[in-house]
Amino acid sequence: MREGDGDESNPVDRRPLAAGLPPLMPAPRILLIIGGGIAAYKSIELVRLLRKAGYVVRCVITRAGEQFVTPLTLAALSENKVYTNLFDLKDEVEMGHIQLSREADLVVVAPATADLLAKMAGGIADDLATTLLLATDKPVLAAPAMNVRMWLHAATRRNITTLRGDGVTVMEPDEGEMACGEYGPGRLPEPAAIKEAIDAALANAPAPVPLAAPATLADQPDFAPANRRPLYGRRILITAGPTHEPIDPVRYIANRSSGKQGFAIAAAAAEAGAEVLLIAGPVPLPTPPGVIRVDVETAVEMAAEVEQGLPVDAAIMVAAVADWRAADAAPQKIKKDGSGQVPPLALAENPDILAGLAKSSERPTLLIGFAAETNDVIAHAEAKLARKGCDWIVANDVSADPMGGESNRVHIVSKDGVDSWDRLPKHAVARKLMEKIADELEKIAPLERD
Ligand code: C5P
Repeated sequence: MREGDGDESNPVDRRPLAAGLPPLMPAPRILLIIGGGIAAYKSIELVRLLRKAGYVVRCVITRAGEQFVTPLTLAALSENKVYTNLFDLKDEVEMGHIQLSREADLVVVAPATADLLAKMAGGIADDLATTLLLATDKPVLAAPAMNVRMWLHAATRRNITTLRGDGVTVMEPDEGEMACGEYGPGRLPEPAAIKEAIDAALANAPAPVPLAAPATLADQPDFAPANRRPLYGRRILITAGPTHEPIDPVRYIANRSSGKQGFAIAAAAAEAGAEVLLIAGPVPLPTPPGVIRVDVETAVEMAAEVEQGLPVDAAIMVAAVADWRAADAAPQKIKKDGSGQVPPLALAENPDILAGLAKSSERPTLLIGFAAETNDVIAHAEAKLARKGCDWIVANDVSADPMGGESNRVHIVSKDGVDSWDRLPKHAVARKLMEKIADELEKIAPLERD
């Protein structure tokens, strides 16, 4: 099952990453909120321009907006589901409003009516659009459109000042003749100008500040506050969690991996701007915002999904893959027959996904393995580095803190030596690792940025 890639009937969200096609620059994801007003018709052209530029667009339309453009038109042009009210999100498991508000790289309000701007400035959340605007942790760009008197009204001036003070980019409306016959500023900027403002906002978009970051995180000397997106333009594959290897339909071989470190790494990679494919073993963890998740059970399934996800710039293999599987899993539950005879359990070795990736013709530019050790951590990690053929081993000292804990003490072992970090919360390890990966990729495979 794939999560985080939206509606199953939607071909757009199943982007090349999940389909295993050649890499693209990660398509920026725009959440477009369409307010009411005659200018709403221009949102159709805006969606067309954004799609043409390769952006992923999800539209939310207010009740008033629906009077001017139909959800059907927007769905056809955006090739994506259109959300109109809170009850569209009937199944919070499928797509909660928090997720909807955060999976985008940028939230765009166009047209932003006087009413919408006032609600945004006042923090009012009384429908889907305003709820998303209050819940988002992403940059917001508003393209106003309203009657000239409304634009010049003291209340609107106050609201614009408040919004700009809050960090919202509010475009200046165009000046000209209005649909109502009056003349002056208040016309929605042309779609091409909005698209330009979107490009500029994305280029400067800061990574979101994590909501529940422990207070101590910012105090960590090595923790750089995420105010940039150093992995923008990179594709990163991450494996996480354990694998379950069936013995029969009700029993399996597994290990104690919680998946927390791998999920924290996926979250940090997305925050840092990467396009992230997370291949997760069975763990009850929520999908981090902006991450494409593929759930698997077994090592063999994980290996197949990893292959599907290539090519990528970096692969971080955090999963605790079971070394062995039952050679012949029984199709039916194995029963005790009362004789006291123990059924034989023959094992077969699982594919080593990391070692296989190292030898693959599509070897990631940067290939990183993990190792949990209880003793001689660095010596074992150095041996593993050579054996697996990867670039770094993140060696994890689990002697003091068993799997499933909230912090990690890691040593990054590479051919260049050993970089040992203090014990840190798993989120902090993840962020610090992203900084190191971004620096390394910039060194060995710089991206052309303009
Ligand atoms: O061999 P060991 O399990 O200690 O190696 C750990 C590293 O190798 C981790 O990065 C893990 O994700 C990866 N691995 C793998 N496939 C396996 C076993 C381990 O990718 N079958």
